[in-house]
Amino acid sequence: MTLLKIKIYPDPVLHQKAERLTSFGPEEQKLFDDMIETMYREDGVGLAAPQVGISKRFFVACPTQKRGEEIVVVNPQILESKGRENGTEGCLSLPGIQGEVARAKRVRLRFETRHGEKKEAEVKDFFARVFQHEIDHLDGILLIDRVDFAQRQAILGQYQSL
Ligand code: NI
Repeated sequence: MTLLKIKIYPDPVLHQKAERLTSFGPEEQKLFDDMIETMYREDGVGLAAPQVGISKRFFVACPTQKRGEEIVVVNPQILESKGRENGTEGCLSLPGIQGEVARAKRVRLRFETRHGEKKEAEVKDFFARVFQHEIDHLDGILLIDRVDFAQRQAILGQYQSL
């Protein structure tokens, strides 16, 4: 297992739209495992490929933070969103920063597993929030792009002083 280096804002890879993942070989399997290990090591609940410098559409997540309950989500596509709720989020690429973000309460999505099997699932509440945050990463969107103007100014000010 290799711990990966997390890209920190304003690294340009974090603002790129990632490309579909089309191969599921040994190299990708090792990468999924390395990302899971890195996520746990950093106390994160999710980690998207662009955050480790790979501009591909997948993320790992473990909203329960219990080892063994992690999931790998490849090429996700949101089919339906319901409800709206504010909540506090952090991001491993924005260390020390938190922001209030409105997200859908429930999302139904289509995705592929780590072995390329096609699936559909519905997630809600904290899972839905984590999934939407990670899917944003695949589109080059960060937490600071989702908060309101006042919060964004405060966060950027705080960030510059770190
Ligand atoms: Ni993040």
